Amino acid sequence: MSIISYIRTIADYPKKGVLFRDISTLFLDPRGLRKAIDGLVMRYSGAGIDKIAVIEARGFLVGAPLAYTLGCGLVLIRKKGKLPGSTIGEDYALEYGTDRIEMHDDTIVAGEKILLVDDLLATGGSALAAIRLIEKNGAEVYETAFLVDLPDLGGSKKLKASGYSVFTLCEFE
Ligand code: PRP
Ligand code: ADE
Repeated sequence: MSIISYIRTIADYPKKGVLFRDISTLFLDPRGLRKAIDGLVMRYSGAGIDKIAVIEARGFLVGAPLAYTLGCGLVLIRKKGKLPGSTIGEDYALEYGTDRIEMHDDTIVAGEKILLVDDLLATGGSALAAIRLIEKNGAEVYETAFLVDLPDLGGSKKLKASGYSVFTLCEFE
Protein backbone atom coordinates (compact mmCIF):
# COMPACT_ATOMS: atom_id res chain seq x y z
CA MET A 1 0.00 0.00 0.00
CA SER A 2 1.24 3.50 -0.77
CA ILE A 3 1.77 6.06 2.01
CA ILE A 4 -1.18 8.11 0.77
CA SER A 5 -3.64 5.28 1.37
CA TYR A 6 -2.86 5.31 5.13
CA ILE A 7 -3.86 8.98 5.46
CA ARG A 8 -7.48 9.88 6.20
CA THR A 9 -9.16 13.06 4.93
CA ILE A 10 -11.61 14.96 7.13
CA ALA A 11 -13.56 17.82 5.54
CA ASP A 12 -14.16 21.17 7.27
CA TYR A 13 -11.59 20.70 10.06
CA PRO A 14 -10.47 22.88 11.80
CA LYS A 15 -12.39 25.41 9.67
CA LYS A 16 -15.05 25.19 6.95
CA GLY A 17 -13.49 24.62 3.54
CA VAL A 18 -10.29 22.92 4.79
CA LEU A 19 -9.64 19.30 3.74
CA PHE A 20 -7.65 18.07 6.73
CA ARG A 21 -5.14 15.33 5.85
CA ASP A 22 -5.06 13.29 9.05
CA ILE A 23 -1.80 11.39 9.60
CA SER A 24 -3.07 9.79 12.84
CA THR A 25 -4.32 6.85 10.76
CA LEU A 26 -0.85 6.36 9.23
CA PHE A 27 0.71 6.28 12.70
CA LEU A 28 -2.00 3.90 13.91
CA ASP A 29 -0.99 1.23 11.41
CA PRO A 30 2.50 -0.25 12.03
CA ARG A 31 2.92 -0.88 8.29
CA GLY A 32 2.17 2.76 7.50
CA LEU A 33 4.50 4.01 10.22
CA ARG A 34 7.33 1.72 9.07
CA LYS A 35 6.90 2.65 5.40
CA ALA A 36 6.97 6.38 6.20
CA ILE A 37 10.02 6.32 8.47
CA ASP A 38 11.91 3.83 6.26
CA GLY A 39 11.30 6.09 3.23
CA LEU A 40 13.08 8.93 5.03
CA VAL A 41 15.82 6.71 6.48
CA MET A 42 16.66 5.46 2.96
CA ARG A 43 16.99 9.01 1.67
CA TYR A 44 19.16 10.37 4.50
CA SER A 45 21.37 7.45 5.54
CA GLY A 46 24.97 8.47 4.97
CA ALA A 47 24.09 12.10 4.15
CA GLY A 48 26.19 13.41 7.03
CA ILE A 49 23.37 15.31 8.73
CA ASP A 50 24.38 16.82 12.09
CA LYS A 51 20.90 17.48 13.48
CA ILE A 52 17.26 17.10 12.57
CA ALA A 53 15.03 20.09 13.37
CA VAL A 54 11.36 19.26 13.96
CA ILE A 55 8.27 21.44 14.22
CA GLU A 56 5.72 20.85 17.03
CA ALA A 57 3.62 18.81 17.27
CA ARG A 58 3.16 16.35 14.43
CA GLY A 59 6.68 16.93 13.13
CA PHE A 60 8.03 15.44 16.39
CA LEU A 61 6.44 12.09 15.51
CA VAL A 62 8.37 11.92 12.24
CA GLY A 63 11.67 13.47 13.28
CA ALA A 64 12.29 11.52 16.50
CA PRO A 65 12.38 7.98 15.00
CA LEU A 66 14.38 9.32 12.05
CA ALA A 67 16.98 11.00 14.31
CA TYR A 68 17.19 7.86 16.46
CA THR A 69 17.81 5.66 13.42
CA LEU A 70 20.28 8.00 11.72
CA GLY A 71 22.10 8.75 14.98
CA CYS A 72 21.57 12.54 14.82
CA GLY A 73 20.60 15.10 17.44
CA LEU A 74 17.02 16.39 17.49
CA VAL A 75 16.28 20.12 17.69
CA LEU A 76 12.80 20.89 19.03
CA ILE A 77 11.05 23.86 17.42
CA ARG A 78 8.02 24.53 19.61
CA LYS A 79 4.94 26.72 19.66
CA LYS A 80 5.36 29.89 21.75
CA GLY A 81 5.96 29.70 25.48
CA LYS A 82 6.74 25.96 25.67
CA LEU A 83 10.55 26.01 25.91
CA PRO A 84 12.08 26.73 29.33
CA GLY A 85 15.42 28.23 28.27
CA SER A 86 16.45 31.32 26.34
CA THR A 87 14.78 31.28 22.90
CA ILE A 88 14.62 32.96 19.51
CA GLY A 89 11.22 33.10 17.75
CA GLU A 90 9.43 33.73 14.44
CA ASP A 91 5.78 34.53 13.60
CA TYR A 92 4.10 32.88 10.62
CA ALA A 93 0.73 32.26 8.89
CA LEU A 94 -0.94 28.86 8.37
CA GLU A 95 -3.75 27.59 6.11
CA TYR A 96 -6.07 28.07 9.11
CA GLY A 97 -4.54 30.80 11.30
CA THR A 98 -1.35 32.40 12.60
CA ASP A 99 1.18 31.24 15.18
CA ARG A 100 4.68 31.71 16.57
CA ILE A 101 7.44 29.12 16.84
CA GLU A 102 10.49 29.23 19.07
CA MET A 103 13.80 27.39 19.42
CA HIS A 104 16.35 27.36 22.24
CA ASP A 105 19.07 29.75 21.12
CA ASP A 106 21.89 27.31 21.96
CA THR A 107 20.69 24.16 20.15
CA ILE A 108 22.17 24.84 16.70
CA VAL A 109 25.77 25.82 16.06
CA ALA A 110 27.10 27.78 13.05
CA GLY A 111 28.17 25.50 10.22
CA GLU A 112 26.00 22.53 11.18
CA LYS A 113 24.13 20.64 8.46
CA ILE A 114 20.45 20.58 9.46
CA LEU A 115 17.60 18.53 8.01
CA LEU A 116 14.21 20.19 8.63
CA VAL A 117 11.43 17.61 9.09
CA ASP A 118 7.67 18.02 9.44
CA ASP A 119 4.66 15.81 8.76
CA LEU A 120 3.04 18.00 6.13
CA LEU A 121 3.78 20.93 3.83
CA ALA A 122 0.84 23.25 3.02
CA THR A 123 1.49 27.00 2.58
CA GLY A 124 5.11 26.61 3.70
CA GLY A 125 4.64 29.22 6.45
CA SER A 126 5.82 26.92 9.26
CA ALA A 127 8.79 25.58 7.29
CA LEU A 128 9.98 29.03 6.21
CA ALA A 129 9.70 30.34 9.80
CA ALA A 130 11.70 27.30 11.01
CA ILE A 131 14.33 27.92 8.32
CA ARG A 132 14.67 31.54 9.49
CA LEU A 133 15.33 30.27 13.03
CA ILE A 134 17.92 27.73 11.84
CA GLU A 135 19.71 30.26 9.66
CA LYS A 136 19.74 32.90 12.43
CA ASN A 137 22.23 30.61 14.16
CA GLY A 138 24.40 30.31 11.04
CA ALA A 139 23.55 26.70 10.24
CA GLU A 140 22.84 25.27 6.77
CA VAL A 141 19.45 23.76 5.85
CA TYR A 142 20.53 20.64 3.95
CA GLU A 143 16.99 19.78 2.83
CA THR A 144 13.36 20.02 4.00
CA ALA A 145 11.48 16.71 4.30
CA PHE A 146 7.77 15.97 4.73
CA LEU A 147 5.52 12.92 4.63
CA VAL A 148 2.84 14.85 2.77
CA ASP A 149 2.79 17.75 0.31
CA LEU A 150 -0.36 19.74 -0.51
CA PRO A 151 0.96 21.34 -3.73
CA ASP A 152 -2.22 23.39 -4.31
CA LEU A 153 -1.36 25.45 -1.22
CA GLY A 154 1.94 26.51 -2.76
CA GLY A 155 4.44 25.67 -0.01
CA SER A 156 6.71 23.42 -2.08
CA LYS A 157 6.87 26.02 -4.87
CA LYS A 158 7.66 28.76 -2.36
CA LEU A 159 10.42 26.76 -0.67
CA LYS A 160 12.01 25.77 -3.99
CA ALA A 161 11.80 29.37 -5.26
CA SER A 162 13.65 30.45 -2.09
CA GLY A 163 16.43 27.99 -2.93
CA TYR A 164 15.58 25.12 -0.57
CA SER A 165 15.46 21.48 -1.55
CA VAL A 166 12.13 19.74 -0.79
CA PHE A 167 11.59 15.99 -0.37
CA THR A 168 8.10 14.54 0.16
CA LEU A 169 6.86 10.96 0.33
CA CYS A 170 3.42 11.68 -1.16
CA GLU A 171 1.17 14.48 -2.34
CA PHE A 172 -2.57 15.23 -2.39
CA GLU A 173 -3.66 17.15 -5.51
C1 PRP B 1 0.47 21.69 10.63
C2 PRP B 1 1.50 20.71 10.11
C3 PRP B 1 2.63 21.60 9.68
C4 PRP B 1 1.94 22.86 9.22
C5 PRP B 1 1.91 22.93 7.74
O1 PRP B 1 0.79 22.02 11.93
O2 PRP B 1 1.88 19.78 11.11
O3 PRP B 1 3.50 21.92 10.76
O4 PRP B 1 0.58 22.79 9.73
O5 PRP B 1 1.26 24.08 7.29
P1 PRP B 1 1.99 25.26 6.52
O6 PRP B 1 2.86 24.64 5.46
O7 PRP B 1 0.87 26.06 5.95
O8 PRP B 1 2.79 26.03 7.51
P2 PRP B 1 -0.14 22.79 12.96
O9 PRP B 1 0.38 24.18 13.10
O10 PRP B 1 -1.57 22.61 12.58
O11 PRP B 1 0.19 22.13 14.33
P3 PRP B 1 0.24 20.68 15.01
O12 PRP B 1 1.38 19.93 14.37
O13 PRP B 1 0.54 21.05 16.42
O14 PRP B 1 -1.07 19.99 14.80
N1 ADE C 1 -1.67 21.78 8.08
C1 ADE C 1 -1.97 22.81 7.26
N2 ADE C 1 -2.94 22.48 6.39
C2 ADE C 1 -3.27 21.18 6.68
C3 ADE C 1 -4.22 20.27 6.12
N3 ADE C 1 -5.01 20.62 5.11
N4 ADE C 1 -4.29 19.04 6.66
C4 ADE C 1 -3.49 18.68 7.70
N5 ADE C 1 -2.60 19.50 8.26
C5 ADE C 1 -2.49 20.74 7.75
